[in-house]
Amino acid sequence: MSRITLRVNGTAQTVDVEPLTPLLYVLRNDLGLQGPRFGCGLGQCGACAVIINGVATRSCVTPCSTVRSEITTLEGLASNGTLHPVQQAWIDEQVPQCGFCQNGQIITAAVLLDRNPNPSDTQIREGMAGALCRCMTYYRVQAAIKRAAATMAGLPRKSGDLSAEARSAKAGVA
Ligand code: FES
Ligand code: FES
Repeated sequence: MSRITLRVNGTAQTVDVEPLTPLLYVLRNDLGLQGPRFGCGLGQCGACAVIINGVATRSCVTPCSTVRSEITTLEGLASNGTLHPVQQAWIDEQVPQCGFCQNGQIITAAVLLDRNPNPSDTQIREGMAGALCRCMTYYRVQAAIKRAAATMAGLPRKSGDLSAEARSAKAGVA
């Protein structure tokens, strides 16, 4: 066992764990952060994503001792009691079904918008491709990302307001 200090959501946390323990286990079991989920445990589904160095990082395959930078989990996205625009958009668009994948969806979307504040539908699909959802919430994820982008740009947006490209794709039109 080793004493390892992680900086999580703005606070330094020291834990006594094996150095190769997946970061996900430390976050959930030692620090009580239940936002990141255990999905596949193999780095394939995105349910365990956290933000490290501006990247949606799969914490299930990240040894905790390798992390030197700030870690932001779903719990750390809100600021001073105000939800992140992506979180609020998720509520407004009623995105989740079972909810299991939604940590990864929200974290990945937040990173996407941080890099590209006005993504096209294609860029959203590409940026979100690694965040898998068995319940097929992808169209509502796309609508929520559009809504969050509009909010962050100071523009109004109505519920379910997909772009023409997204509407065509949903209708099966090439
Ligand atoms: S649980 Fe980490 S990628 Fe699936
Ligand atoms: S909401 Fe059920 S897996 Fe995505």
